[in-house]
Amino acid sequence: MQAPGNNDFLNHPDEEEGMLKANAFKNKTIIITGGGTGLGKAMGTYFLKLGANLIITSRKLDVLQQTAKEMEAETGGKVLALACDVRNYDEVENMLTQAIESFGSVNALVNNAAGNFISPTERLSANAFSTIIDIVLKGSVNCSLALGKYWIKEKMAGNILNIITTYAFTGSAYVVPSACAKGGVLAMTRSLAAEWGRHQIRTNAIAPGPFPTKGAWERLLPGEMAQKFDFKNRVPLKRVGKHQEIANLAAYLISDFSGYINGDVITIDGGEWLQGAGQFNGLEMVTNDMWDSIEQLTRHPKSS
Ligand code: HXC
Ligand code: NAP
Repeated sequence: MQAPGNNDFLNHPDEEEGMLKANAFKNKTIIITGGGTGLGKAMGTYFLKLGANLIITSRKLDVLQQTAKEMEAETGGKVLALACDVRNYDEVENMLTQAIESFGSVNALVNNAAGNFISPTERLSANAFSTIIDIVLKGSVNCSLALGKYWIKEKMAGNILNIITTYAFTGSAYVVPSACAKGGVLAMTRSLAAEWGRHQIRTNAIAPGPFPTKGAWERLLPGEMAQKFDFKNRVPLKRVGKHQEIANLAAYLISDFSGYINGDVITIDGGEWLQGAGQFNGLEMVTNDMWDSIEQLTRHPKSS
């Protein structure tokens, strides 16, 4: 990167660029759940560019196959598209068996599949609540369990990366099933890091802030809500995330360059959750003139 001139700080050219060395993932095979769309697709495309073999899984085989075709055309890498509902442990084991048959071994798992919608909690049926818990928490448990058993049996190093949210630690109204489930995945992240570290299995998480995807935006900001509740206004950096930015972070955490990071959660949200947390953060609406008046009111006159 060149030294930035005055306005170059505003352009941020590096946000769109890959960060790791070419071939950083040569001989690595990675499973991404929910890898046919959105952030899973973005992370998977970058892993392929770094030389990985990729398995993308979710419920909709047609979507996965189309994505696999696009990914292979863009990167020249190898992608196996496998239908697998992460709620069902037998389907997860079957998916892993097919992945190993195709590529010989699997080195990393990204628990990215999720389900979510906004609703006042009292309007939810018990089944609606447990549907989200089943996809997000039970799905991440099922995949981690299957991969962990495999790595420990084969005496292989392994790597689990869980995609959570910032409200896994703050909680959030109107997405309570998702908050409960993601909080559970965070607890699993830290627990497995401690328990499976001795098997050379690292477990970490990424907590993204707002990254526009069709899946999230259609369910969380439907219709006019996208204009009325513009996420970027909540972010100190005044923008949403770019897909390559999360792909870079995920690649780093999957790679051996992060070999001593285990059990951590890295937030990538432009400062959004802290903006909501600090008691005085809302004062950004105070103008310079108002600050002048405030200063006069708050400075103690020097005693004569
Ligand atoms: C209330 C709802 C609902 C809604 C479904 N249900 N949608 N309740 N409000 N909007 C209820 C149903 O009535 C049913 O309960 C139960 O939930 C299961 O619904 P199904 O449609 O049968 O479930 P299924 O086909 O398994 O689909 C799962 C889904 C769907 C979660 C409902 O939206 C989906 O497939 N989502 C996958 C992708 C996704 O959600 N991506 C967004 C991730 S974004 P009853 O009682 O009627 O049987 C994310 C980011 C967070 O997590 C942070 C962003 C900034
Ligand atoms: P997305 O495109 O809707 O991705 C969700 C994926 O999960 C889909 O590909 C979906 O595919 C898959 N999925 C859902 N239920 C499944 C099941 N039972 N079994 C297997 N796969 C299933 O949304 P996204 O925005 O990219 O989200 C990706 C991840 O980032 C999620 O964990 C989400 O919580 C997290 N996240 C996103 C944001 C954001 O701003 N976008 C913010 C914070 C966290 P099928 O329908 O084919 O099954």
